[in-house]
This record gives sequence, C-alpha cells and structure tokens, in this order.
Amino acid sequence: MPDEPWWKSAVIYQIYPRSFADSTGDGVGDLEGIRRHLDHLEWLGVDAIWLSPFFRSPMADFGYDVSDYCDVDPLFGDLDAFDRLLADIHGRGMRLIIDWVPNHSSSEHPWFIAARSSREDPKRDWYFWRDPHPDGTPPNNWKQAFRDAPAWTLDPTTDQLYLHLFLPEQPDLNWGNPDVEAAMHETLRFWLDRGVDGFRMDVIHAIGKDPALPDDPPEVAALPHSSLNDTPFTHQLLRRIRALLDSYTGDRMSVGEVFLLDTAKVGTYLRDQLHLAFNFPPLFTKWRSYRWAKQLDDAAAYIEPNGWPTWVLSNHDVVRHRTRYGSEDRARAAAVLLLGLRGTPFLYMGEELGLENADVPPDRVVDPGGRDGCRAPLPWDRSRGHGWGEPWLPFPPDAAARSVEALRDEPESILHLYRELLAQRKASPALQLGDQERIEVADGALAWERARGDDRRVVAVNFTDEAVAVPNLQGTVVVSSDRLGEGETFTGTLGPDQAVWLRV
Ligand code: GLC
Repeated sequence: MPDEPWWKSAVIYQIYPRSFADSTGDGVGDLEGIRRHLDHLEWLGVDAIWLSPFFRSPMADFGYDVSDYCDVDPLFGDLDAFDRLLADIHGRGMRLIIDWVPNHSSSEHPWFIAARSSREDPKRDWYFWRDPHPDGTPPNNWKQAFRDAPAWTLDPTTDQLYLHLFLPEQPDLNWGNPDVEAAMHETLRFWLDRGVDGFRMDVIHAIGKDPALPDDPPEVAALPHSSLNDTPFTHQLLRRIRALLDSYTGDRMSVGEVFLLDTAKVGTYLRDQLHLAFNFPPLFTKWRSYRWAKQLDDAAAYIEPNGWPTWVLSNHDVVRHRTRYGSEDRARAAAVLLLGLRGTPFLYMGEELGLENADVPPDRVVDPGGRDGCRAPLPWDRSRGHGWGEPWLPFPPDAAARSVEALRDEPESILHLYRELLAQRKASPALQLGDQERIEVADGALAWERARGDDRRVVAVNFTDEAVAVPNLQGTVVVSSDRLGEGETFTGTLGPDQAVWLRV
C-alpha cells in the first residue's frame, strides 16, 4: 500500500527459534534451520517475521536473559548465519524484526558481573541495589514474575539486594543512568546497521522505574510488578528510542510488549513512542461474542486515537488458542476473525497447522514459567522425527497428521485456510487498511464491516456451536472457515462455529 508504512498492512509471523527448524540434528532449532524453511513462509504469504531472542544467553529464560546483545548464541549459529538469513528474507521481499530485551540483562552479562563485584564498581549503578529494611525484609513489596516471591535477591559479595522483575538470573537494568541508555541505544544501532526492519521490545513498559521504588498498592501487591509498572519516565525513554529508529531510512519499526492488562493504558505508549504495541486483553479473552465485542470497542476507543491496533491470539508465553478455544472448528473461525480485524495481526508459528499445546510430562518440564506446552517443536513431515533430531521438548499431539507436509496435501486443511485468508487479505485494501464498523447481529455472533474506497468486506463470526441467523448480512462469500459455499451468495445463516468474509 503506497503512502502507508509497511507494518500497517503486514501480517507478521512469530518464530521461536528453538522450536522452528533444526538444521544440525541436535534437537534445538537454529538460524540456518529457519533459512532452509523460508519457502513455507513465502508460500503461506506472510510479510514479515518476528524472531524471538537468538542472542548469547545462559538460557535461564530461554534467551530472554541476554549476556551479549550483539552476538548470536552458538546454539543458534553465528553472525554470518544471521546475515545469510536476513539476506534471504529480504531477497524474498519479506521483512525481519528481532526481539530486544532492554528491561534486564542476564546475570552473566559482563555489566552485571562488574556491578556485583563491588559497591564501588563503575557499573554498580547500571542495576538497582538497595539495603534491606532493618528487619531484614526486602526494600519494597514488588513481586517477581513466575513465582510468588520478592523481586529482590541478596547478593552476598556486597551484602545488598538487587532488583529483578523476572528471574534472579535477569537483573533489571537501571535506565535512570544515562550510560545504560546510551549502551542500550548502541545495541539497537548494531542491528539496525545490519539491516533489520525493526524490533519487538520485551516488557518495554517496565524499563522506566519510579526512582523512589514505591510499594505496589496492597490490593494488587500479589501480582508481579512487571504487570503493574507504569511510570512517566518510560514514556520519555520511549520518545528517545523512537527518534533513534526514525533517524534510519526504510520505515524501521517497534512493536512493544506492553504487558498491562488495560487497553486504555496500552494506548498511552503509542503516538510519538512505539509504532505498535501488543494489547493483551484479547489474548486472555474467552471465545464469547460479547467479550470480543468489548475488545473491538476498546481498541477503537483507546488504541485508534493514538495509533494502529495489533491483534494476537497465541505466542510463546500462553497456552495455544487452539487448545484454549477447544476445537479445530473454533481455531479456524478464530483465523477468520484475527485476519479480518483492523490492525496488524501477529501469527504464532504453528497456529497455521492448528497445533495444540503439547503435553509435557513433569520430567521434561524445563521452563520456570511453565510455558513449555506452547513451545513444542513444529512438525515438518510425517516421518518419525518430523524433520528434527531428538527434540528438546516433545511434539504437539498428532504431529504426523498436523505436519506441514501432511496439511499441504489436504486442500481443506487449516493450513490452506490460513493461506487463502492471507491471499484474500493482500488483495483487499478494505481488509488491509479499511475503516471498521460493527454491525449489530444476533447474540452469539459478531459482525463488522471493513471499507476503503469502493472496496468493502463484511466479517461475521459465530462463536457458538449452533446455527445463528444473520439476515441483515449480505454479499458473496470470499472465504469461509469451513471452506463451504465460497464464491456463492451468503445464505444469511452462520453455521455452528462458522466465520466468513463477504464481499459487499
Ligand atoms: C516477556 C517474554 C517472556 C519473558 C519475559 C522476560 O514477557 O515474552 O517470554 O519470559 O518477557 O523477559
């Protein structure tokens, strides 16, 4: 679309590199594995890839604990492999955004090793150090993520506590120190100079801390502080990050993980700050028409005045929506919903296969946050190993039947449905960038119109397992979640769990 930045009309596909494709046979995915499977993404029709962390890391949080922001972990390859991957992605007309983890480093980052060595170390103030209260309790009541425990750990060498909103292996960086800000800006430049198209910014709303580190209010103090931190300082930092990105040519972009479960607050991180922000209330919304109606209305009320919406149904942190919604029919209807919304959709690798969460037996659990089930490896073919060496996590259920190879052979499969949706979306200015207006329909269903110029589409979703009459909706069926009736005049009734796009 001319005159609009690429990321507004793009469909972005998230790759969790450990689990996408294994080129070495060691059972862990790698950059060369991704490069060798780009045909799949090009065939599917995605515009851009978001690659979760592949940087040097002790892997306490599987890469979200970075010990060198400017190098590739040997598990995934090296900088040459990264450059080859990026060149191949660009050669195919796709874009690449990478994950940036600015809130915390690894405890094995040289910065933290220096900081913890002595109270006088020049890097001491790059992190947050405090004495305990006289009674020995931590400096404030903040909770860490993943476990019910304080966000503070005592470091015996210097006998002070340091702050970590996530694991003790992930100390929070002190962005109040200008040297930290400058050093982190350098890490952005490093990858921008290499040619990346942008960044997914990890827990970005948390990088600015209130210098007083005040207690969280008692009524929410049981929640991790990472889902509460919301201070003016972060907005200042984001404006400077935005200026850095915008100083480069080529529409470099940011999509921030603003993990505040409040769409109105998410809206405040846009405008002159982030280009896009994840808005997670929809990710935690049940499959009910009235609940989704509220999500559409909230995005219109709080995101639209400040920027462009995003939509996500699954990622590497939550149970896959195929499992949450309970059936393949619903997963198919959800694809029609997701790709019919105004805003940039993010797909999580494997949702195009209708993958369920994997059952991970207790002796194979590895993630401290209990998120292994959605991180299971992608099955590429019907063979016993599905294209992998002995994988680091078990495969999702029905891996052979759900493999890329098997579903490509089935024209009615969910994989072909996703491909058709992406193609139809790309062919329609209304679906890519059009305005959105809700249309009142019977309980249990949700409908809206998308329009741009002469191009108009109606999206209609039945959230129930019974037929719903929607006599006010008319048009030709462009895509149906069950692939029935496409090209025909819409009957005015949505079948059980059916969702459609109509050309008006
Ligand atoms: C984000 C990531 C998650 C990670 C956390 C700490 O929420 O998505 O995977 O554990 O940040 O970096």
